[in-house]
Amino acid sequence: VFHLVELCSFSEEFDAVVVGASGGIGTAFADLLSDAPHCRRLFLTSRNQASFSYQRSERVALELTDESSIASAALKVSAKGSPRLVIVCTGHLHDDEGRRPEKALRDLDAQSLAHGFAVNTIGPALVIKHFAPLLPKEGKSVLAVLSARVGSISDNHTGGWYGYRAAKAALNQIVRTAAIEVQRQRKEAILVGLHPGTVDTSLSKPFQGAVRADALFSPRESAVRLLRVIDGLTPDQSGQLFAWDGARIPF
Ligand SMILES: NC(=O)c1ccc[n+]([C@@H]2O[C@H](COP(=O)([O-])OP(=O)(O)OC[C@H]3O[C@@H](n4cnc5c(N)ncnc54)[C@H](OP(=O)(O)O)[C@@H]3O)[C@@H](O)[C@H]2O)c1
Repeated sequence: VFHLVELCSFSEEFDAVVVGASGGIGTAFADLLSDAPHCRRLFLTSRNQASFSYQRSERVALELTDESSIASAALKVSAKGSPRLVIVCTGHLHDDEGRRPEKALRDLDAQSLAHGFAVNTIGPALVIKHFAPLLPKEGKSVLAVLSARVGSISDNHTGGWYGYRAAKAALNQIVRTAAIEVQRQRKEAILVGLHPGTVDTSLSKPFQGAVRADALFSPRESAVRLLRVIDGLTPDQSGQLFAWDGARIPF
């Protein structure tokens, strides 16, 4: 069921960029786009020396916490094409350096909060800054940033995860604000946040205990569903946050 995605809504052959193609969901997007019939060139970014062996693909170095690296990645892409689809799949929830989502106020730590904001908000904001100008002036284009349902303020009924929630809420606001600006010059450009569902990747591993087996997606399943959502998006939906099933998530 979860194989080829046609992406018919993009009028012609298009170039695509996956930022964070080494991650769980990013790898699934890279797999699917490398097989997508209309995808002409695929730019895959990673901060490490990950090697990608897809046809028509090129690796581009991009470290989110270094704006000059984001700017050079955009320059490298722009020298070869004008991407119609940019998907930002980076993110941070926990790591080997002891950072964990906070359970209570007593867990708040300035450096951890700053790190979460750097990766989950500021990095993607700068990716939008440098990649939105590469979108073609005419025709449908999509710049989608993986966000999370827990970034929705109105949906927050359980608390916890202060930093991640706040960083994703701020990311949603950045996407919304950029969507308004970008549409002034690119009427058919669509900027959205996407919630991938709970996906079996290293990011969610420590927190999968409470998740029902049928509510845990494989990365491929999530990426296929999100590509279908992307394919169905229209310019009047720009600036919003959508879940894997196409439902809009209120901020
Ligand atoms: N998995 C879920 O259940 C879930 C649920 C809701 C939302 N999301 C969101 O979906 C997105 C993808 O998550 P995932 O599950 O695929 O996570 P993942 O497997 O941990 O992938 C995260 C990606 O971010 C990259 N990254 C982290 N810090 C970076 C930096 N400083 N510079 C450049 N790249 C950096 C990682 O690069 P390295 O490979 O080099 O570490 C990796 O490619 C995230 O935004 C996450 O918040 C995930």
